Amino acid sequence: MKGIILAGGLGTRLYPLTKATNKHLLPVGTEPMLYHPIKQLTGSGITDILTITSTDHMGDVVQCLGSGEEFNCNLSYKVQEKAGGIAHALAMAEDFADGERICVVLGDNIFEYSICPYANEYKKQEKGARVLLKEVGDPERYGVAALDEFQILEIEEKPRDPKSSFAVVGLYFFDNQVFDVIRNIKPSDRGELEITAVNNAYIQMNQLRYSICKGRWTDAGTFESLFEANKILLENKNRILPH
Ligand code: G1P
Repeated sequence: MKGIILAGGLGTRLYPLTKATNKHLLPVGTEPMLYHPIKQLTGSGITDILTITSTDHMGDVVQCLGSGEEFNCNLSYKVQEKAGGIAHALAMAEDFADGERICVVLGDNIFEYSICPYANEYKKQEKGARVLLKEVGDPERYGVAALDEFQILEIEEKPRDPKSSFAVVGLYFFDNQVFDVIRNIKPSDRGELEITAVNNAYIQMNQLRYSICKGRWTDAGTFESLFEANKILLENKNRILPH
């Protein structure tokens, strides 16, 4: 399985912190934010990793992460010229994936515990996709899963009236059908190719499974969530907890 870290976007909700740098280079605990997804992936045995980011700060991202030698992995990079949504960025990874399964992490998602067990559950899955759910107090900020007792029925992106309190976190496992799926989805009302549309297509194919995320999780895209991300990692000295 290969790893893909999506680190694009303008980080406008964190302005002026993101005036001169990329959100994903901001400090979280004792390290730059991007160290976390890299350590999560390598800790799950995924060592071939592509980072996709915008043109503006690619130089700084490469300067921060280098070849991957420091993390015992191979890092490659791709530039997303225009922000077109998460699925738009992911489409750029088709050649890199080269037919293999992929683990996609949003670069601003911080997990207290290792993601390794979820990768192992996905490896046992014959085909399709797998997402990770977390019960949250403010589901309207996220993709939200409508569930019955067995499966996800539908995911709604930032719904005003959420059907559950289970957010879909920014960690996704896909097989190589994902690139065809992306070619067939339409942009949302905000003009983006949404990762939620991709996951809903897998639901239609009856090929979306899920795990529940253990421990604390947060994104780091707002001042409050960046503070929470700092708290989680500082308290554990930037160590990712084993299960
Ligand atoms: C993105 C996804 C959303 C997901 C969230 C997790 O939202 O679109 O479905 O729940 O990441 O961090 P964003 O925060 O990038 O708007």
